[in-house]
Amino acid sequence: MTRGRLVLVEHPLVQHKLTVLRSVETSTKKFREALEEIAILLGYEATRDLPLEEVGIITPLEATKAKRLAGKKLVLVPILRAGLGMVEGFLRLVPSARVGHVGLYRDDDTLEAVRYYSNLPPDVHERRCLVLDPMLATGGSAVAAIDLLKREGARDITLVCVIGAPEGIARVERAHPDVRIIAAAVDRQLDERGYILPGLGDAGDRQFGTK
Ligand code: PRP
Ligand code: URA
Repeated sequence: MTRGRLVLVEHPLVQHKLTVLRSVETSTKKFREALEEIAILLGYEATRDLPLEEVGIITPLEATKAKRLAGKKLVLVPILRAGLGMVEGFLRLVPSARVGHVGLYRDDDTLEAVRYYSNLPPDVHERRCLVLDPMLATGGSAVAAIDLLKREGARDITLVCVIGAPEGIARVERAHPDVRIIAAAVDRQLDERGYILPGLGDAGDRQFGTK
């Protein structure tokens, strides 16, 4: 389903793995595995429109024309910590992608994102940027990461998340209408602490076993 710049991935495998991630009975190990697997499937969607070029090759039987990736290269930008769990899945699809990191945490009181780290390749302006974060809640972290990328010159940005809250999606759409958002689900709402309902809990704590 596509709504404006939002692409909702309703593939049965994605929805099945999302259920594994949501369940409180899922162990840390299984959570990590399911997050990596769902990242591969979201990565398939996020790379659907990569440009191709035609090249001449020789198969064991004859010469033919074939397609290969052309043009823009990719940079993956996980938002620490939780986005780290999506990197390996994306790298399976695009092993040559660069990886930049943005460290953000949410202030418990204001819920605003606070940056504590960033390290991006110098040529982000020449690359397609895929921002990775399983959770898009208030949208503060995603908007802060995208702001940073744009200040560094990035122009082609896609946000890939697992679950989006309506509030966070609206905030990203307002702040960055050019950015495509890919998600496995849009959940009901945020609770008073800014957690997504029904959600999957704290994505960082669940994959790293903290708390
Ligand atoms: C979580 C999550 C997102 C952010 C989403 O990170 O991984 O980055 O919250 O919330 P927002 O849309 O309201 O900004 P958190 O700040 O808990 O840090 P962590 O990944 O290190 O646990
Ligand atoms: N961050 C998370 O990890 N989970 C939420 O539900 C909201 C923000």
